[in-house]
Amino acid sequence: MAMTQAARTLREAGRDVISLSVGEPDFAVPDHIIAAAERAMADGHTGYTAADGITELKEAIAAKFERDNGLAFTTDQINVSPGGKAVLWNVLAVSVGPGDEVIVPTPCWVSYPDMVKLTGATPVMLAGGDDFKITAEALERAITPRTRWLMLNSPSNPTGAVYSAEDLGALADVLRRHPQVMVLSDDIYEALVYGNVRFATMARVAPDLADRIVTMNGVSKAYAMTGFRIGYAGGPVWLIDAMRKFMGQTTSCAAAPSQWAALAALNGPQDFLDGWRAQYRARAAMMTEAMNAAGLSCSLPDGAFYIFADCRDIMAAKGVGTDADLAMAILDRAGVATVPGSAFHAPGHLRLSYAASMETLTQACSRIAAFCAD
Ligand SMILES: Cc1ncc(COP(=O)(O)O)c(C=O)c1O
Repeated sequence: MAMTQAARTLREAGRDVISLSVGEPDFAVPDHIIAAAERAMADGHTGYTAADGITELKEAIAAKFERDNGLAFTTDQINVSPGGKAVLWNVLAVSVGPGDEVIVPTPCWVSYPDMVKLTGATPVMLAGGDDFKITAEALERAITPRTRWLMLNSPSNPTGAVYSAEDLGALADVLRRHPQVMVLSDDIYEALVYGNVRFATMARVAPDLADRIVTMNGVSKAYAMTGFRIGYAGGPVWLIDAMRKFMGQTTSCAAAPSQWAALAALNGPQDFLDGWRAQYRARAAMMTEAMNAAGLSCSLPDGAFYIFADCRDIMAAKGVGTDADLAMAILDRAGVATVPGSAFHAPGHLRLSYAASMETLTQACSRIAAFCAD
């Protein structure tokens, strides 16, 4: 937030600032999805809906889980919330409180630990290895009798790391020994995996643990529909039921036209995603090379749309004490907004989003390179 505000202030002062701090796709929402939202409004879908979503959308979500993930859910196991963020919050709000612990692998998305704290529960930060992923041994050590959830995010924001089926299988072996622990699988970047990497999700890898897993997803990142605010989840009936009751007293429901637009996204053509993925891939390759050449060490991410670069050498070279100070210096002197790794519980890093055009990214990279070389 501080970076965004600082970038805004510089822009207002007339400075040319490139923002690589955003967490949303730069592509336009496909026409058939826009048309579905317009049609829904014209057809009178403008009022409240069932608290946890219209049946048509729940059916489309169940079909999506079956088609893409090999998961079988009935509609009473599906929740629709106003955004993926709201799904996560609803799950935590109805299931944990003071005295409970939630394991959050790091680097992690900024909202996880704060959401856990808002419930009164305690986030237990668990550092990933060099590949940014947690190991079975580390998970085993972090679990206590008070552990209620393991939050898993793959592909990861901020690192782009993707857990393979084997990685998840090893974690599942640990979880089998600890029946008090559930898994909140944040699959929101599922559509954004590259190269030969295969997306995997815990409920598919460990079907025997299905009644302890919530599989969360949404249309924000896959279909560039961040402003529509639709997220969804499949999970055990008792939890989905509690979330519905909670929503009945809080958000009421996700916006009706957005639900119809999400239905069109899930049931409509998916082939355009290949074109988007190819563009993301090319951008990631360009940026990874440019950032390594500039002294910001990073590897080609397997998924999502972020480069997570180790900036400790540049911090040392510039005599800068923290990654936040470095991000501010890059903003101030190079006019490029990034997000410091400390926001993701991984100090000494910078997150650079490549959800921007190749032209913009090329310009941003040459500005950062000039800053580093200066
Ligand atoms: C890891 C992760 N989970 C969930 C979300 C929430 O997505 P939504 O915009 O649908 O609330 C985000 C958005 O940045 C994210 O990065």
